[in-house]
Amino acid sequence: MRRIRIEPSGREVDCAEGDTVLQALEKAGYALPNNCRAGACGECKVRVVDGRFDQGMVLDMALSAEEREAGFGLMCMAKPLSDALTIEWGTADARPKLFPPRENVSFVVVEKIPRTPSICEFVLKPVAQPLRFWPGQYVMVGGGRAAIPDRSYSIASAPKPDGEIVLQVTKVDGGATSTWLHEQVKVGDLIRVSGPYGTFIGDPSVETPVLCMAAGSGLAPILSLAEAALRRGFAKPVMLLFSARTEADVYDRGLMAYWQMKHRNFRFVPTLTREQKPGMRHGRITDVLPKLLTDLSAHSVFIAGSPAFVDAGKAAAKALGAQDGLIHTEGYYPRYPPITPKPEQLLARP
Ligand SMILES: Cc1cc2nc3c(=O)[nH]c(=O)nc-3n(C[C@H](O)[C@H](O)[C@H](O)COP(=O)(O)OP(=O)(O)OC[C@H]3O[C@@H](n4cnc5c(N)ncnc54)[C@H](O)[C@@H]3O)c2cc1C
Ligand code: FES
Repeated sequence: MRRIRIEPSGREVDCAEGDTVLQALEKAGYALPNNCRAGACGECKVRVVDGRFDQGMVLDMALSAEEREAGFGLMCMAKPLSDALTIEWGTADARPKLFPPRENVSFVVVEKIPRTPSICEFVLKPVAQPLRFWPGQYVMVGGGRAAIPDRSYSIASAPKPDGEIVLQVTKVDGGATSTWLHEQVKVGDLIRVSGPYGTFIGDPSVETPVLCMAAGSGLAPILSLAEAALRRGFAKPVMLLFSARTEADVYDRGLMAYWQMKHRNFRFVPTLTREQKPGMRHGRITDVLPKLLTDLSAHSVFIAGSPAFVDAGKAAAKALGAQDGLIHTEGYYPRYPPITPKPEQLLARP
C-alpha cells in the first residue's frame, strides 16, 4: 500500500496497488476535479512535489511537455511508483466531502423512455443499498466486457429515498456503450453501475443567481442540480438555457413547464440551432445569451454538454463578466478522443 500526501493540508490517503491517485483520493472522499478519467481533458492536473509516479498514456493537449517538466501530472492516469507521493492540491483545511464510490452496484432497468430521436432515458432502481451521490455527479455503466466498456453517464435526477436514478443517454454513431444501451438493454435487465464520480456539484450555500447552459444530454446533470436546488427552496433566479438542433431534440418540456409554474424564480429557454419555429428562440448559445442576460459578474454558471459546447458557453459567459471561480463545467469528453491525422500523414496516404 502506498501513501498520497496532500499539501498544504498535510492529509494522507492510502493508494491500493493498481489504483490511480484519483481513485485513491475518491475512495477517501476527496473532490479532486475530474472528467474524462482518460488523460484527455486536463481537469485532474496537479503538481507533484515529491515522489515518483507512472503517468501512463495521456494526450499532449491535456498535459504539455512544459507542464510535465514543471512537475505537473494528470492524476486520473498517474500511479505512484514510490512509497509516498506528495501532491499540491486544495486548501490548508481540505477535507473529504464526497461519498466514496462503489463498484458494480446492481440496478434494475425499470423504465426505458425514448426522449428524442437520439436520447433515451433509463430509470434505474438499486437491488440493494442505494448509491449515495451529490446532484451533478456521474456514474460509470458498461456491459462488463471489452466490447462494451464502461462509460460515464451523468445522473439526471436528484437523490431519492429509494435510490432510483435516471440516466439520459445520447446514441453516438459507432459508439460501443451508447449503442448497447439504446439497442440491447431493455426494461427488466440487471445492469452494473459504479460511482458516484465527479465534482460538477453545486454549493448548497451559494446565494447568487444561477445560469445553467446545456446541450443535448448535457441537460442530465443540470436537471439533477436544478431539481435538488428547487426542492430545497433555492430562491435566487435560475435560468436554464438549452441548446437543441431541432424542436424534436428539446425534451423534458413538461417538467420545465411544471418547474416554471411552481417556482417563479425558474426560467427555461430553449434555443434551436438547425431550424426556426414560431415562439422559439433560434441560434447558438453564444448569440442568444447576450440577448437574455447582460451582466454575469455575480452569477454562478453551470455548463454541460460536448467539450466544444462547454468551451463556447464558457467564453460567452466570460464575455458577460462571469468569474472563473463561479463557472462550473462538465464536458462530455469521449473516453477515446478521435485522433486527428496531421496534414503530412494525410498527404502520405496513397
Ligand atoms: C463526466 C461525463 C459525463 C457524461 N455524461 C453523459 C450523459 O449523461 N449522457 C450521455 O449520453 N453521454 C455522457 N457522456 C459521454 C459518454 O461517457 C460516452 O463518451 C458516450 O456515450 C460515447 O460512448 P460510446 O462507448 O458509445 O462511444 P465510443 O465507442 O467511446 O466512441 C465511438 C466513437 O465516437 C466518438 N464519440 C464518442 N463520444 C462522442 C460524442 N459525445 N459525440 C461525438 N462523437 C463521440 C469517439 O471519439 C469514437 O470515435 C459523459 C462523459 C463524461 C466524461
Ligand atoms: S485528464 Fe484526468 S480526468 Fe481528464
